[in-house]
Amino acid sequence: MIFEKAVKLKNGKECILRNAEPTDAREFLEYFELCHAETDFLTTYPDETEHNLGKISARLADNKQSEGNVEILAYVDGRLVGSAGIHMIQDRDKLRHRAEFGISIIKAYWGLGIGNYLTESCIECAKEAGYLQLELDAVSDNESALNLYRKYGFTEFGRNPRGFRTREGIWQELVLMRLEF
Ligand SMILES: CC(C)(COP(=O)(O)OP(=O)(O)OC[C@H]1O[C@@H](n2cnc3c(N)ncnc32)[C@H](O)[C@@H]1OP(=O)(O)O)[C@@H](O)C(=O)NCCC(=O)NCCS
Repeated sequence: MIFEKAVKLKNGKECILRNAEPTDAREFLEYFELCHAETDFLTTYPDETEHNLGKISARLADNKQSEGNVEILAYVDGRLVGSAGIHMIQDRDKLRHRAEFGISIIKAYWGLGIGNYLTESCIECAKEAGYLQLELDAVSDNESALNLYRKYGFTEFGRNPRGFRTREGIWQELVLMRLEF
């Protein structure tokens, strides 16, 4: 999907939100690795992510072409500082109404409103794509994310006490949330 918007952050700076382009692959990988190293609330460890720039570029190109998937990037002062996306759960008749939502922002840029704007943008795209339900999982200790999701109307529909198991062997409970349109 195609998306572009300019917004003003809580610190007065401008933030450009736009769909990812295939040429963003290298910067996207750098941003992704940093985000995933800065928090223990995400699913993937930085060394588990796809490192092949050709493959990342192809995935970003697919998202751009797709009518049901989008990866929205947030730029501040020309730097990629956050992203959020929606992806169809599975391309099957019984599942085509459901999309998954994911978001992450570089720590130095937390608290400026980027999470709000990215979430609003993804909800807008999900509605435009015709989805009837947006879904996500969040670690139950991740108060910032849970507050953000509740603010936009996501409601809890269950918990998975053994959702994640960290490399240190610690269980992380997942809160399952959904938003109906
Ligand atoms: C969760 C995350 C996306 C929030 O992004 P952000 O840009 O800091 O959020 P914003 O500044 O736009 O705040 C949005 C809302 O989130 C909640 N929130 C943000 N920071 C918070 C904090 N420190 N404490 C409590 N709630 C908080 C509030 O509801 C806030 O609404 P408000 O603007 O009306 O106060 C960001 O902290 C992040 O990327 N964390 C690491 C990755 C992650 O956890 N992703 C989600 C995985 S499920």
